[in-house]
Amino acid sequence: MMIDRVLKILYQNIGQFVSGQNIGRSLGVSRSAVSKSITELKNKGLDILSVSNKGHMLVKMDDVLDSDIITALTDKKTVFFDTCQSTNIEARKLTHIQDIELVIANTQAKGRGRRGRAFVSATGGVYMTYILMPDLPPRHSMLINLAAGLAVFDTLTKYGFEPFLKYPNDIYLDGKKVCGILTETLADADTLMWAITGIGLNVNNEIEEDLADIAVSLSGSSGKNFLRAEIIKEIINQFDYYMTQDIVRHYRQKCAMIGSEITLINDDGTKINAIAVDIRDDGLLLISHNGTNKIAVGGEVSVRINN
Ligand code: BTN
Repeated sequence: MMIDRVLKILYQNIGQFVSGQNIGRSLGVSRSAVSKSITELKNKGLDILSVSNKGHMLVKMDDVLDSDIITALTDKKTVFFDTCQSTNIEARKLTHIQDIELVIANTQAKGRGRRGRAFVSATGGVYMTYILMPDLPPRHSMLINLAAGLAVFDTLTKYGFEPFLKYPNDIYLDGKKVCGILTETLADADTLMWAITGIGLNVNNEIEEDLADIAVSLSGSSGKNFLRAEIIKEIINQFDYYMTQDIVRHYRQKCAMIGSEITLINDDGTKINAIAVDIRDDGLLLISHNGTNKIAVGGEVSVRINN
């Protein structure tokens, strides 16, 4: 697509003019093709100024999302929905279309959380699903989830927040949940076919009154508004980076929960008091319970940190 490539150049030079000729030259297309794309970008509502003899300038980015904008910023082939049931469900349908990598929505009608719960997805938040085909054995698929957590953790830190990483896939801010992650995979005995990682991050969205004690958004915490496309870009960059790294080593460093007393809540509601000892190489949490015995737990439990 032309239009996302033109936008990418404008975005890299935000606040400065770039001549149509230079854009055309670097993309190997004519000036009139560039002009056509610029018109389309303006029609999308982007704040672009065109001045003869100077060229085109992206004056500022607004908080607008669509597939061209996200592709321009992330370099990922993106499918965008104003609204859909769940970006994870849409991504699952797209796993056989090799070049779609990212599914994004403004809102989700049936956002899905872990263990069958709903994930409230009001306009203004980031609801994204990243499709990965990593070269990992299926028993290491938990690592993808941890990489996603690290990516969001670093993104929020970069924006000046002090997030808390809660194993296996939540991020907290001011003691309240700001982000949830849901990774689903398809694997046979020894091959991981695909993984889809859904990330729901409260950004500029309002938090419903009855969730206000347990959930927070970035704007609620800071009083500022954020550009979701830039946040998505940052998360994806960090995610790609962590997928090339020793994920567990990084997670151990950043998960302040290690060493804390925790309560594990099983699906049937039963609880176990334990100490979070370490993250195992396959991404499972090693806990000590009743003194000495160590067991490994993963996504099947909820973890509560005891203060
Ligand atoms: C949880 O907190 O239990 C996980 C929440 C995951 C929410 C994200 S939003 C994007 C993607 N689509 C979904 O339906 N769920 C994930």
